[in-house]
Amino acid sequence: MKLNPLHNQVGGHDGVLSMGEDNEIIVKPSLPQELAFYEESVLHPELAAWMPAYYGSLTLTRDPAAIAAMTATNEDGAVNSEGAVAAAIKAFNGYPVGDFLPLNTFDQANPDKDPEVPLPVEKGEFDDECICLENVSHGFTKACVLDLKLGTQLFDDNASEEKKARLGAVSDNTTSGKLGIRLTGFHVYDGEKEEFVKYSKQHGKSLTEATILEGFRSFFAAKLGPQRMRLVVERFVNDLTDFLATIQEEELRMRSSSLLMMYEGDVEAFDKGVLEEQGNIAKVVERAQAHLERQDDDDEEDEDEDEDDEDFEDEEVKQKVTDMRLIDFAHSTWTPGMGPDEGVVLGVKSTLSLFEQLLVTDYPEDE
Ligand SMILES: Nc1ncnc2c1ncn2[C@@H]1O[C@H](COP(=O)(O)OP(=O)(O)OP(=O)(O)O)[C@@H](O)[C@H]1O
Ligand SMILES: [Mg+2]
Repeated sequence: MKLNPLHNQVGGHDGVLSMGEDNEIIVKPSLPQELAFYEESVLHPELAAWMPAYYGSLTLTRDPAAIAAMTATNEDGAVNSEGAVAAAIKAFNGYPVGDFLPLNTFDQANPDKDPEVPLPVEKGEFDDECICLENVSHGFTKACVLDLKLGTQLFDDNASEEKKARLGAVSDNTTSGKLGIRLTGFHVYDGEKEEFVKYSKQHGKSLTEATILEGFRSFFAAKLGPQRMRLVVERFVNDLTDFLATIQEEELRMRSSSLLMMYEGDVEAFDKGVLEEQGNIAKVVERAQAHLERQDDDDEEDEDEDEDDEDFEDEEVKQKVTDMRLIDFAHSTWTPGMGPDEGVVLGVKSTLSLFEQLLVTDYPEDE
């Protein structure tokens, strides 16, 4: 199995990778704090429902000896993949592994050269600890992606004084301080030109309380027509409302986490996604009715029920319309007894009110 750079990464440090037949798994070099946060998230199912599914961790190596083992061939010239896997993967939980290739950024001719991927080294000199996550963009055809950084305080309480001062200034001088949100970066699909328009971290930092709505307008600029765009914004308003209720109940501190917001930017794929969802709803209603009718009958119907279940699985939504998840827990901790993170709550409320404003001004109901 080959690791690829994540093609639609919009924020953060370079080095987020993806793998799987359709790049459905994210492999992100991580600090122990993020790994621990994901591990503990099973105890917080309401919040975990907003996080990408967590598949476990793996260790990648840049150890020249391991890489030599991976690329070694046996007598008939085939790559000795068993030895390769044993040498290259020190730990993997939760996902069936085929064989791996080393990070393609490793320069075999210059083993001392720093790889392009800046990786925290935790285990051995050459080992990179990674978390494996659901790729939220899997299921989109042309994903428009926004990384929206949450919270007013962007540093850990245990950060160095220098870092506290630096990130304190970033918060004060951007929308993070007053609104609890900052647009970190985003990609929008332009269906007419058939290309993505990319907005940088600097663009997000330059926005102010007065111009942030313009920033969101740029994110909602895929040319899908007002009705589809209204649906997109409405769905985010619903998600944000539910997410706000959850986050107000959770006792944690999230520093520099993000909401990853995505919507389909290709018109045909968008409509296909909506139709698939409607088909699924119809199927659920049909099944519920059939179930009620069956309650009058006896166990002899059990076999039919199993068949229905199979049909239903076949109808799962394959094309997404929108999705919203919470990511990046490198500086997050569960803090029982300390109440919710008020800076994050502020950020979600600000976003909600800006999106509600957009619905009124840009996408009025009757249009
Ligand atoms: N589960 C995911 N699905 C899809 N894209 C993701 C996922 N996780 C991360 N990404 C992409 O990668 C980018 C960076 O991720 P993230 O914010 O977790 O890393 P980072 O900011 O570099 O983290 P750190 O603070 O740990 O260095 C995101 O902005 C997003 O574009
Ligand atoms: Mg980030």
